[in-house]
Amino acid sequence: MPSVAEEQFAHYVIGHPAIDADHYRLLCLFQSCKKINSPEELVAELQRLRKYWSDHTVTETDFMVSINFPFLVEHLKQHALVAGEISKVILKVEDMSSNSKVISQTANPMVPLLSFLLSHIDNYDMQFAKYVNPKEAP
Ligand SMILES: [Fe+2]
Ligand SMILES: [Fe+2]
Repeated sequence: MPSVAEEQFAHYVIGHPAIDADHYRLLCLFQSCKKINSPEELVAELQRLRKYWSDHTVTETDFMVSINFPFLVEHLKQHALVAGEISKVILKVEDMSSNSKVISQTANPMVPLLSFLLSHIDNYDMQFAKYVNPKEAP
């Protein structure tokens, strides 16, 4: 599996070991999905990604509950949105597989999905950082 460059990942580090490890693994899964040309193979990998995302949201939910995170409800809505986006891409790729044997790189659906995930980490998961480091907590 291709790895994500350390310096590329450093921007997304929150400081919670289990959550950071999940994010790293998710980004690696995205990298590997981006390189797949066969729609059938991509659907299989995306299903793994969706399962991994679902497990990751359980880890984050447990953490948010443990710290009485004030934005829990909104965060859970955002997790559902990401899951919905992954499911939409799976449907899109399944549809592609009936018309073509290769995924067009210009319309690769992994690109917008990856930016959706990265913006979730940037805009929502980063809020955890101050709770991981109690000195910065409100
Ligand atoms: Fe996350
Ligand atoms: Fe999250």
